[in-house]
Amino acid sequence: MHALKVNTAGGSYPILVGRGLIDRADAFVSLLPGRQVLVVTNDVVAPLYLDRVLASLADLEPATLVLPDGERHKTLETFSRIIDALVDAGFHRDACVLALGGGVVGDLSGFAAACFHRGIACIQVPTSLLAQVDSSVGGKTAVNHVAGKNLVGAFHQPVGVVADVTTLETLPEREFLAGLAEVLKYGIGLDEEFFEWLENNLQALLDREPLAVERAVIWSCAIKARVVAEDEREQGRRALLNLGHTFGHAIETHAGYGSDWLHGEAVAVGMAMAALMAEELGTIDADTCRRIRALIEAAGLPAHPPAMSTDRWMELMGRDKKVAAGRIRLVLPTGIGSSALSAGYDDAALARTIARTAPNDD
Ligand code: NAD
Ligand code: GLY
Repeated sequence: MHALKVNTAGGSYPILVGRGLIDRADAFVSLLPGRQVLVVTNDVVAPLYLDRVLASLADLEPATLVLPDGERHKTLETFSRIIDALVDAGFHRDACVLALGGGVVGDLSGFAAACFHRGIACIQVPTSLLAQVDSSVGGKTAVNHVAGKNLVGAFHQPVGVVADVTTLETLPEREFLAGLAEVLKYGIGLDEEFFEWLENNLQALLDREPLAVERAVIWSCAIKARVVAEDEREQGRRALLNLGHTFGHAIETHAGYGSDWLHGEAVAVGMAMAALMAEELGTIDADTCRRIRALIEAAGLPAHPPAMSTDRWMELMGRDKKVAAGRIRLVLPTGIGSSALSAGYDDAALARTIARTAPNDD
């Protein structure tokens, strides 16, 4: 088992990464504040892993809640179901929500934990690649609103993350690739050495070779832990973790949550667009842009958005949480393994980027 630490203002918590962790009571017990645990999962993950997690919690009497699967259920209504389950179980302030699943279950459960009794403990047990490398770490919790992705939420750090990489063996291929987009994000935007490792080990990752996958999860979590420790509330550097997300969230909102676009796929397109935009602005050269886009495409991820008019792009990107003083702020690559938040760009470059990638036939 590999243990990393996330240091935050409220204290530090472990990220445990390894094989077979969900079967180990010791992976969970030291994280639990008391005996009351609500295991929240969904109807895809429950048949695969719920019994094994419950066996590890056998000394307690955990309550369970199985939600319907899917991004379209990441709503205030589903959030209310978790709160109702905590109330029905008679749970108190020392209760804990254990989120077993992908980023949807993790974000919903984390938000419910943030709100119940003004904040109870949450253990993240991520089972998708995206959740293991990104959403389970760092304390961002949220639900979607028709007006915008993750529009309602809270910062609420988990008390621990238990990432069992063997659970990824049952992850559908498309979901694995979507998670890989967030892995690439760390290399493209934050760590040149990781980018080069990804270029050299992409096939091993696509083949899901266990050592390569575990290394990518650990490396990604280490980068994220470092960024979160520096900037827990996204006052600065943490915004760089949103590389590709302003474009990507616009695609997801336009297409509808739970539609044909997975979050990671939309982020992949967003990163490819961010590279083009940076090239338009002259902050990266054509070869750097090519390398970034080549890595995304070699990973089998999309690099082209759906058809959307420039006005629609502007409208949806204008709802992004990073908008400040009426300006859309974009995270753009400044090289391989480096990026910056930029508001002082020429609007025409943004329009050109959109025009280069998105046909105006909406
Ligand atoms: P998801 O939770 O919908 O999981 C993807 C699919 O895989 C689902 O059908 C799920 O049931 C299934 N699944 C999960 N684990 C499985 C397994 N081991 N075997 C078989 N099937 C499995 O989606 P996701 O990609 O995990 O997460 C996307 C969500 O995460 C989005 O809502 C996004 O906004 C959010 N997110 C949050 C953060 C954050 O910092 N909080 C960061 C990135 C993304
Ligand atoms: N996924 C972006 C962040 O956690 O900040």
